[in-house]
Amino acid sequence: MCGIVGYIGHREAYPIVLKGLQRLEYRGYDSAGIALYDEKELKVSKTKGKVADLKAKMESEVDTSGTLGIGHTRWATHGVPNDVNSHPHISNSGNLVVIHNGIIENYESLKKELTKRGYKFESDTDTEVLVNLIEDVILKEKVKLGKAVQIALNQTVGAYAIAVFDKSKPNEIVVARLGSPLAIGVGDDEYFIASDASPFIEFTNNAIYLEDGEMAVVRRHKGVKVRKIFDDSLVDPYIHELQLNLEQIEKNNFDHFMLKEIYEQPSAIKDTYRGRLHAEEGIIRMAGIDDNLERFLNARRIVIVACGTSWHAGLVAEYIFEDLARIPVEVEYASEFRYRNPIINSDDIVIAISQSGETADTMAAIKLAKEKGAFVFGVCNVVGSSISREANAGAYTHAGPEIGVASTKAFTTQITVLTLIALKLAKAKGTISNTDYHMHLQELETIPQKIEIALEENDHIKEVAFKYKDARNCLYLGRGFNFPVALEGALKLKEISYIHAEGYPAAEMKHGPIALIDEEMPVVVIATRKGHYEKVVSNIQEIKSRQGKIIGIVTEGDTSVRDLADYVIEVPDTIEALTPLLTTIPLQLLSYHIAVMLGKNVDQPRNLAKSVTVE
Ligand code: M6R
Repeated sequence: MCGIVGYIGHREAYPIVLKGLQRLEYRGYDSAGIALYDEKELKVSKTKGKVADLKAKMESEVDTSGTLGIGHTRWATHGVPNDVNSHPHISNSGNLVVIHNGIIENYESLKKELTKRGYKFESDTDTEVLVNLIEDVILKEKVKLGKAVQIALNQTVGAYAIAVFDKSKPNEIVVARLGSPLAIGVGDDEYFIASDASPFIEFTNNAIYLEDGEMAVVRRHKGVKVRKIFDDSLVDPYIHELQLNLEQIEKNNFDHFMLKEIYEQPSAIKDTYRGRLHAEEGIIRMAGIDDNLERFLNARRIVIVACGTSWHAGLVAEYIFEDLARIPVEVEYASEFRYRNPIINSDDIVIAISQSGETADTMAAIKLAKEKGAFVFGVCNVVGSSISREANAGAYTHAGPEIGVASTKAFTTQITVLTLIALKLAKAKGTISNTDYHMHLQELETIPQKIEIALEENDHIKEVAFKYKDARNCLYLGRGFNFPVALEGALKLKEISYIHAEGYPAAEMKHGPIALIDEEMPVVVIATRKGHYEKVVSNIQEIKSRQGKIIGIVTEGDTSVRDLADYVIEVPDTIEALTPLLTTIPLQLLSYHIAVMLGKNVDQPRNLAKSVTVE
């Protein structure tokens, strides 16, 4: 959570830092702040609220000139979102300025020590403790800023990506990371610092991604020196060439990133299978699997760890892996797995799914699984992310940047990658017939076009949204491959419209949830013709007899559900295992339109952040 940005070079820092914060606002948006230095004075502005509030405040309060600047957009952990708790934080002398993404877990004991030594604290944050600890080291040890940061970080426990400068030596910014991402953009005699590369993409394609436990001193005109925080060794940094382009991180003509990302799914899925799926030859090429094929074929079981929407993709994968490849699969919330002393052996494979590749619980689950001897395979979207680097092998989803907090294209591309893996293993194990295998490959190739068709229902879905926008509760039901889609549909509605929603396997309804059904309750039922169609139709009848309002997600041309439901939304026909890739689309659009009609902030729902980098 939280986004950090910094600049040192020959341009004005303010517009770069401000724009960078706007691009990183998906990481947290309850308060924001910027510090600038213009060779004469330090100017700091911070406020509760969004980056737009900060812009208004800053431009009326201070002169925004200066070629060194750092900025922060916050998702509060320690201390409520208010002006004082916003970053940057300044040391007691007024010299050191810091921004921080993460948590300093032992901040209370450090604070006590520093208080005894006369330090005063204005905020409730752990970050203000850190900046004063660094200052204390400078004063006590008579060392330069870089060394002081290193000594201070050796005394802290927790997670961080920080950027700090000393206004009395304004030619350097010191950065460090442990558990939170940090990239350094290397331009022509100018340097950029950010939680991801989006703030500097129009200025440079070259970036250094700090590894966990590394810090760097970024000096004006002199370059970047990277070293390890804990053993002090120097590191020769690898300069990555970025593949991002500006269009991917702009809204273009869409009202919201979420809508843009929903509409990007056909191309995102093509990008996911490009170079991997060769339907005509009947081949799936995936280096991460090819290189470890024996291990996968001999695996006793697969354990999938993930959170949120990625966990739902894991549940879809459980159905697909077991059905096609006949490998036992367990799906766990990463946050539970990491604390419950799970039984994991060296012949288990753990698949960690994460869009951001930074989710703290998923990362911790991976570390635990590795300690227990499992082989970890990562399915991530963000290239170079912490989870993708921590895993033993992996496959990227290649969905492109997902900026809307509600995950959409990440989900369908995760399912695509996992389906490719399942099909590849099924073929290698001989658990799928040749005919079925080829049929699945060919059908997977048609999915982008079928999603285009599903998207054509948008106007009709808007009408359905209008009808149910004032509901206070909503049920989502599905069976088999579409049970996880029901969970995902409910999560989408909850997180962006704040309407209470629950997803259930349709048959579970009789074991409790049916008691909730009355004429006020909309029930979204995924009832595609494949799978347990007749049984789902019976469930629909049970809802209808209790006056529930039925929205059926059906295969095109369906008549049985149409006769029973209040509304139906059609998706094209496909193979059962691939239906989640289509049935998800109307559920995303439905929640999107309801949230827009209710006037909610679709891309930045309250209390949420895109990357959950704290547990
Ligand atoms: O980046 P990750 O996939 O690891 O994130 C996991 C969840 O935080 C994420 O899917 C979250 O549930 C989304 N807001 C759902 O839309």
